[in-house]
Amino acid sequence: MIVILLGPPGVGKGTQGKLLCERNGLHHLSTGDLLRAARREGTSLGKEAQAFMDAGKLVPDEVILGMVAEKLTELGDTGVVFDGFPRTVAQAEGLKNLLVKLGRQVDRVVVLSAADDILVKRIAGRRSCPDCGMIFNVYFNPPPADGCGDCDLSQLTHRADDQEETVVTRLEVYRRQTAPLIDFYETSEAEVRHVDGDQSVEAVQGALQAALG
Ligand code: AP5
Repeated sequence: MIVILLGPPGVGKGTQGKLLCERNGLHHLSTGDLLRAARREGTSLGKEAQAFMDAGKLVPDEVILGMVAEKLTELGDTGVVFDGFPRTVAQAEGLKNLLVKLGRQVDRVVVLSAADDILVKRIAGRRSCPDCGMIFNVYFNPPPADGCGDCDLSQLTHRADDQEETVVTRLEVYRRQTAPLIDFYETSEAEVRHVDGDQSVEAVQGALQAALG
């Protein structure tokens, strides 16, 4: 099964994508996580992506498509949940061509949504573990007092692109470049489902599981 989680920054794609994969034996493929790992490792891809990410802009399509093609080929027939990809019509077209070559197809597109003020607060409060990638929120899902098991509280990080002015740019970029994908997929063979992202994590997860059924 190939699932695409579509939605604005902070709506919960990462949180939900990880849970969905743990519970259904699927592979969580987040282009944002892959880019952040490349930055930490100091690879040429990471260096190329850095300025775009810090400004809240999209990394060029050809860089993203190359990275996804390599990962999908490695994964063989494993089911995949895409988080943060595709983000432009060019990426969606590129994915379609790639899947045709691999004899696969997009099965479901789930669109998560929430109001902008909720998104901004979720992003401002987000803290993540640099080792295991666990995501917390100082307002909605505080980390345990002794940390996540891999690191203590002082090591949890606030993403460089989570500053308020960058978040405004990321929301604009989403509306202009990524939201048109909802129409793109509604006129394709994939089934598109809409889920309200402004509910508890478990309620959103329940709706997502139902959307895959
Ligand atoms: P990426 O890492 O993909 O970021 P994003 O799409 O902006 O999404 P976020 O990670 O901010 O939010 P999310 O929806 O995953 O929410 P989360 O679960 O963390 O991309 C970063 C950058 O990389 C881009 O700006 C771009 O530069 C580049 N990039 C990546 N992919 C690219 C591509 N395909 N093409 C070009 N460039 C690309 O939740 C947010 C917070 O809310 C957390 O603290 C969480 O604990 C909390 N939370 C989640 N759900 C709930 C809930 N139900 N109730 C209360 N709190 C909740």
